Amino acid sequence: MRMTVCCLLGVEVLLKIVTRWKKAKYETLTRLVSCGTQFRMAFLPRAGRLGQPMSAESMPIPVAAFSGVFSARGVRKVYHTGEVDVVALHGVDLDLGAGELVVLLGISGSGKSTLLNILGGLDLPTAGRLVYRGWPLDGAEEQTLTLFRRNCVGFVFQFYNLIPSLTARENVALITGISRDPMSPEEALEMVGLKARMDHFPSQLSGGEQQRVAIARAIAKRPEVLLCDEPTGALDVTTGIQVLEAIERINRELGTLTVVITHNAVMAEMADRVLYLSDGRIVRERRNETRRAASSLEW
Ligand SMILES: Nc1ncnc2c1ncn2[C@@H]1O[C@H](COP(=O)(O)OP(=O)(O)OP(=O)(O)O)[C@@H](O)[C@H]1O
Ligand SMILES: [Mg+2]
Repeated sequence: MRMTVCCLLGVEVLLKIVTRWKKAKYETLTRLVSCGTQFRMAFLPRAGRLGQPMSAESMPIPVAAFSGVFSARGVRKVYHTGEVDVVALHGVDLDLGAGELVVLLGISGSGKSTLLNILGGLDLPTAGRLVYRGWPLDGAEEQTLTLFRRNCVGFVFQFYNLIPSLTARENVALITGISRDPMSPEEALEMVGLKARMDHFPSQLSGGEQQRVAIARAIAKRPEVLLCDEPTGALDVTTGIQVLEAIERINRELGTLTVVITHNAVMAEMADRVLYLSDGRIVRERRNETRRAASSLEW
């Protein structure tokens, strides 16, 4: 009897220790995975700790002295589907700096979305190094990637994925409700020129307006990075340009590092830098002397 009681007490103490350790670990992650100076100060000396050990393939690839936001070296992605292996990225080297507006151009199947998903922590590279502010994302644990996505990255896709039964304001509030230091839904909708329409439901808004609500939702948490996968793909020229104007304003006023995927070469004019992807490789890079205003683009 005494033995059983001792065992039960022992198990309880052990459980308490494990629970406290898990809580402490989560709190440390939450504290570390914040963007900006605090993140850099807290994380840089510990780079490598949060991710799993590097794979053998990624080990020998050196990461250059890092001053930007993202640094990718030899990033490869292979999709294993049944018997077939599809190599979507063949060793991408890339540096992205704070506040840049980068357009990613390439034909269908060239690996644009794959690269964007890896940058945004939605997917992991098969090999290579990917570092965000000194923090290795390759091989990172799912919990770490979740915090990275939640705190540091806003996504905009071709389709808006708004909840039809919620107004524009409520769609944005869904995100501000779980963010650390969000702007108000009203402020976010004002940034995309939709303050007057915030109590309208998606069905009462045009495609371009819905996309701007999706952009407001993406930036309301003040992410350091905004990743847009063909944000104007489903829109006509006029509404497409309004969407690009919203993206341009966010990049300029909030200093958000912005990456925009497109098939449309005209959009390259509004970028600081254009990266051309072909067959899973960056085959060319162009830096624009000046950026053209989105409002002046036509196609
Ligand atoms: N989940 C997957 N499983 C298997 N293969 C995939 C998967 N996702 C992408 N691929 C393949 O990887 C390659 C790159 O695809 P990706 O979607 O990155 O191209 P993309 O440049 O974004 O094309 P698009 O302009 O048509 O969107 C393609 O050959 C594609 O078929
Ligand atoms: Mg794509």
